[in-house]
Amino acid sequence: MRHLLSTKDLTRDNAIAILDVAEDMAGVADREVKKLPALRGKTVVNLFFEDSTRTRVSFEVAAKRLSADVINFSAKGSSVSKGESLKDTAQTLAAMGADVVVIRHAASGAPKVLADSGWIDAGIVNAGDGTHEHPTQALLDAFTIRRRLYGPDSRGRGLDGTTVTIVGDILHSRVARSNIWLLTTLGASLRLVAPATLLPVNTSGWPVTVGYDLDAAVDAGPDVVMMLRIQAERMNASFFPSAREYSRQWGLDDERVARLPAGSIVMHPGPMNRGLEISAGAADSAQSTVLEQVANGVSIRMAVLFHLLSGSDA
Ligand code: CP
Repeated sequence: MRHLLSTKDLTRDNAIAILDVAEDMAGVADREVKKLPALRGKTVVNLFFEDSTRTRVSFEVAAKRLSADVINFSAKGSSVSKGESLKDTAQTLAAMGADVVVIRHAASGAPKVLADSGWIDAGIVNAGDGTHEHPTQALLDAFTIRRRLYGPDSRGRGLDGTTVTIVGDILHSRVARSNIWLLTTLGASLRLVAPATLLPVNTSGWPVTVGYDLDAAVDAGPDVVMMLRIQAERMNASFFPSAREYSRQWGLDDERVARLPAGSIVMHPGPMNRGLEISAGAADSAQSTVLEQVANGVSIRMAVLFHLLSGSDA
């Protein structure tokens, strides 16, 4: 694996290998010295053209735990604001000796442009591109599901037989797209639930079923409910009548959580709009995996960096 651009590119074996290495990496967090020498001498550049808390910080922690050098670059405060192009930015980073570039960009496809360009001879990791994909988020979500439902001793296992319902702003969600491909590859069955205005016009090419009624989806008793953030920053029109109406019909509130099966889990990639797509009670419930997802993100990103920089698929 040279780049990680899309979960569509991962075979089931690739994906399970990353989850299994992440299990090993998770053990590093419990050590007194949370470091491995695996990537000593390597340089990871975090190239963020869009805001981020979880993804940027966890790539930094992951790279440092593997003893790599880390350069953090955000477009705000850089020469990008003076009009510097992606090409010139990439070539500048290449001159600094980047081995991996982790890129987040508002334009769908920007990481692929970088990977195909020849401007830089580094592995490229897509950390979220427009409304296209966010592959490491999907990997950490799959890891969280596997650990919570099947235990940390589930190495080698996929998610066969697992039912996952993804709820909310599917239209603008790169998290949903990456999860649709990855969780299906791992054997899960997916259902999407959203107002019609927040679904793509045509989902016929997606391996999912689609519904509009959250109560019916909750009463179907899924193993996993994944709530998505309403992405107001990507909305140039009104997609639902009001916040109150949205949370009443498509928000996961305390009463809906109480109706979910015991042992099911509630996920959210963050950042959350508490009171809109998820209530504070649901976000902080025993079934919520929100903070586990953040912690697991470090293990997954360690595994991804290790795969890319060690040239190992095993
Ligand atoms: N889940 C996620 O991508 O969060 P950030 O935008 O904070 O990185």
